[in-house]
Amino acid sequence: MLDRKKLINQISTERDQAIIDIDDCKDLEVLKKIHSKYFGKDSYLSKTISQIKNYDKKDKIEIGQFSNKVKGEIQNKIKEKELILKNRVFLHEIERDIDVTLSTNNINIGSIHPISQMMDNITDNFKSFGFSIASGPEIETDWFCFQALNMDIHHPARDMQDTFYIEENHILPRTHTSSMQIRTMLKQKPPIRILAPGKVYRNENADSRHSFMFYQYEGLVIDKSTNVSDLKSFLTIALRNIFENDKIEIRFRHSYFPYTEPSFEVDATCILCQGKGCNVCSNKGWIELLGGGMVHPQVLRNVNIDPEIYQGFAFGGGPERLLIVKNMIQDTRYFFENDLRFLNQFKQI
Ligand code: DAH
Repeated sequence: MLDRKKLINQISTERDQAIIDIDDCKDLEVLKKIHSKYFGKDSYLSKTISQIKNYDKKDKIEIGQFSNKVKGEIQNKIKEKELILKNRVFLHEIERDIDVTLSTNNINIGSIHPISQMMDNITDNFKSFGFSIASGPEIETDWFCFQALNMDIHHPARDMQDTFYIEENHILPRTHTSSMQIRTMLKQKPPIRILAPGKVYRNENADSRHSFMFYQYEGLVIDKSTNVSDLKSFLTIALRNIFENDKIEIRFRHSYFPYTEPSFEVDATCILCQGKGCNVCSNKGWIELLGGGMVHPQVLRNVNIDPEIYQGFAFGGGPERLLIVKNMIQDTRYFFENDLRFLNQFKQI
């Protein structure tokens, strides 16, 4: 019978060997064999433990405690290794079952709506000219939407922008983003360069060019020496950038808006008929894109800006018109019908 010290040394050597075996093991079957090698009936540890009874009481306790500790260590090491190997098998199975060469063409991922794409295109372009983007409420007061823009309660120009009045004519869904001119000028001192994109609402019968809700963008520039030629050259460059076409012709036609003087309608050559006349351009050869002009002195006075010191220009329009010209689309209702055959043509990927 070995003396206590030698036996304890042998148990340590057995533990060291077990650790080497477990570290080297690369396979769950081999791990099972290692388990029975160290814990089976004929294993060194089992045999040693069955001998403990032959030692005296003090040695029994010491050898017993030490061999239990070693058994625990080996068992834990085997459990850890078992987890690692099972995980490896699982990952291997996943790798085997996933075919990375399979086509993904059938996965239907959504895309950005053409109107949002155009709004992004417009805002990106104006940002590159140093404009900041302004946003404000869609539910407006009569004053911001009309009165401050030089359209008093009974002004006939209001007829073109009928809307749904709430609470005895004081609150309304805004009919145009021009209300953002007023909100900006009350908040910010000149120089001002803003673009305000957003939704507007009107009481319209839906036809190929109208709907009760649509999008607009509003631009406003106020500074000390802005003039009509700034407005013309600026809008011509911006529109050609948006269309990615520097040949497209832009024309400024005299018009009337109560909040600008002089006022213009801005048109582009109808690219569907190349200016010859078709049903999209109502046989005019031109498509109306937006309105604009030099901000009326009374509007500046309404927001406490001195028109003798500051002038500026404003413009506003809808992204649908720009999409019609850029992509030769014949009917604005397509944008709101959610027909995938139409929308998929605008997928960016
Ligand atoms: N608010 C006009 C509309 O909704 C568009 C417009 C015209 C905006 C002239 C302007 C402007 O800023 O100066 O039809």
